[in-house]
Amino acid sequence: MTTRILKLWAILTIVAPMASGSHTVFAQDSAEEKQVSLYDRLGGLAPISVVVSDFIDALMPDAVLNANPEIDAARKRVPAPYLKYHVTALVCQATGGPCQYHGRTMKEAHGHLNITEGEWDRMVTIFKEILAKHKVPAKETEELLALVGSTKADIVVSKDDK
Ligand code: HEM
Repeated sequence: MTTRILKLWAILTIVAPMASGSHTVFAQDSAEEKQVSLYDRLGGLAPISVVVSDFIDALMPDAVLNANPEIDAARKRVPAPYLKYHVTALVCQATGGPCQYHGRTMKEAHGHLNITEGEWDRMVTIFKEILAKHKVPAKETEELLALVGSTKADIVVSKDDK
């Protein structure tokens, strides 16, 4: 009898802390699962589409970018709503939203534009201005800049002194 009680005590003292320990692990897991996607932190598709629309409206007439004849020609040929649609879908998907991007790769879409480092920097400046105008918080701005930055190697194909 005494041995039984001792065994039970031993089991309880060993298993109980393990169980409470594993409870902590589960709690951490569910907190991780609940981590909110960038897409949701930005407010979802409606605000994303508004920011993208403003961004493209600011890019298209920009004199620095349109000094590049290939960009200028593409701007005249490609409808703004088409670009807005594709860029919105891309941002929605890349930030963890429910959209699927069906456009071309960044290399395919930009290779013929001879985009330089200077033109890239100009685009980033405009992008930052638009995010600031819409009061996108610092953390989300940083994450969006990192996402955009990850495409740079596929988009910038020319030297500034071309
Ligand atoms: C200096 C930077 C950039 C310039 C000047 C630029 C300009 C353009 C132009 C003119 C087009 C139309 C090309 C054509 O159809 O002939 C285009 C397409 C596109 N761009 Fe950019 N772009 C830049 C950076 C970016 C970045 C950073 C992204 C996204 C992260 C992006 C996403 C797209 C998408 C999704 C398309 C449409 C692809 C398709 O037609 O399938 N662009 N861009």
